[in-house]
Amino acid sequence: MQIARTVADYRAQRAALVAARPGLVGLVPTMGFLHDGHRSLMRRAHEECATVVTTIFVNPTQFGPNEDFTRYPRDEARDFAICEAEGVDIVFAPSVEEMYPDGAETTVSVGPLSTILEGAARPGHFDGVATVVTKLFAIAQADRGYFGQKDAQQLMVLRRLAEDLRFPIEVVGCPIIREADGLALSSRNVYLSAEERAQALSLSRGLREAEAMWAQGVRDADALRRRVRQEIEAEPLAEIDYVSLADQRSLEELHGTIVAPALLSLAVRFGATRLIDNTLLAP
Ligand code: PAJ
Repeated sequence: MQIARTVADYRAQRAALVAARPGLVGLVPTMGFLHDGHRSLMRRAHEECATVVTTIFVNPTQFGPNEDFTRYPRDEARDFAICEAEGVDIVFAPSVEEMYPDGAETTVSVGPLSTILEGAARPGHFDGVATVVTKLFAIAQADRGYFGQKDAQQLMVLRRLAEDLRFPIEVVGCPIIREADGLALSSRNVYLSAEERAQALSLSRGLREAEAMWAQGVRDADALRRRVRQEIEAEPLAEIDYVSLADQRSLEELHGTIVAPALLSLAVRFGATRLIDNTLLAP
């Protein structure tokens, strides 16, 4: 496994690898502090591509002024060991200066999709994501980019971005990986106290309850949203940011009877820790 700290090093390493081993290049962008969710993306990339590239970069521009950029968990040695174990060929782990050279002024903004839900709760967040992923797409020169359904809206924004900017890359969405008890894996889970973690199970429980109602034929948007809220509101430490049931394509909030596939998504705060989760309700 090779580690590239600069764009120039990455380009040289990628060119040599692809010359020696022709085939698809798969890209797995991450912010590090890797867990089984990240590993599942690397495995999928490995199955489908000859060369697998992972990027580890805690991107400052996607954090708001009061968010956790400086305290975001980092453990580079452990991350490199995980990448090595997953058969990653190149880890691109640049500095902030390498990604945002002095005077960098270009940003990428994706439009309406990036200003609702997560975008409304975290103004500017998706501009930061879109900007850094544009750079990573341009640098990596990969054929496929692997992203988790855990960040469902991010996946939609990035599909839009790749399509709109005509990047020659296929954006591949991968299923949410959960702990045995249902909690969706996240680098931010380490912030949770034991009590918060126990109460955080209400997120996946609420989604499962709604899925069960859906399976029984319930199609009333308000009833489904209400059921999820009820489960989470029973936990004293949980503060709901939003529970949304929205059109799968436009992310427009749904009311009345649901007829098309819908994304049930939520964001909940436990103290300073903000967790997200979602499920797709499809016929
Ligand atoms: P990060 O939160 O590190 O996540 C990296 C990738 O792993 C994302 O595509 C995310 O959806 C996926 N992922 C996280 N938890 C997952 C889980 N439990 N199951 C499946 N996939 C999971 O998302 C980012 O970083 C950044 O915004 C990034 C795209 C790297 C841009 O900075």
